[in-house]
Amino acid sequence: MSNVQNTLSIIKPDAVERNLVDEIKIIFRKNNLEIKESKKIHITKEEAAEFYKVHQSKPFYNDLCSYLSSGPIVVMILSGENAVLKNRKVMGATDPKKAEENTIRKLYGISIDKNSVHGSDSIQNAKIEIDFFFKN
Ligand code: CDP
Ligand code: MG
Repeated sequence: MSNVQNTLSIIKPDAVERNLVDEIKIIFRKNNLEIKESKKIHITKEEAAEFYKVHQSKPFYNDLCSYLSSGPIVVMILSGENAVLKNRKVMGATDPKKAEENTIRKLYGISIDKNSVHGSDSIQNAKIEIDFFFKN
């Protein structure tokens, strides 16, 4: 039975700055993640704080919000079979040092904070995050 899902992906400032957007998009398409929507935006720190509010109690929250708002990002809706989990696998572990070979974070991530991409971690969060950037 087919299980097509949508998920939210963000190419973070470190990767946009290094002109990695096209290379990262090729990796998504190679893995059967269709890019249904894509836009380059620059969010405020307040918007980043709202987006990442699940992490508000974490010691890295303030730096994380400063970072995501520090430069342009590319937000995308990816679609495909089991897209939520598929995207997480294609991204690799949060810490690039621990990410598997050929994952986006292994290939391009600089550090645990500058790890090049965000991806929704559940179907429910994917819906919330897609609405956050693409409602209206
Ligand atoms: O992005 P992912 O879902 O893999 O990781 P997370 O645990 O949801 O954390 C969100 C983001 O916070 C990460 O992608 C990192 O950019 C950042 N982070 C950090 O700066 N330091 C940590 N120790 C953990 C996460
Ligand atoms: Mg997460």
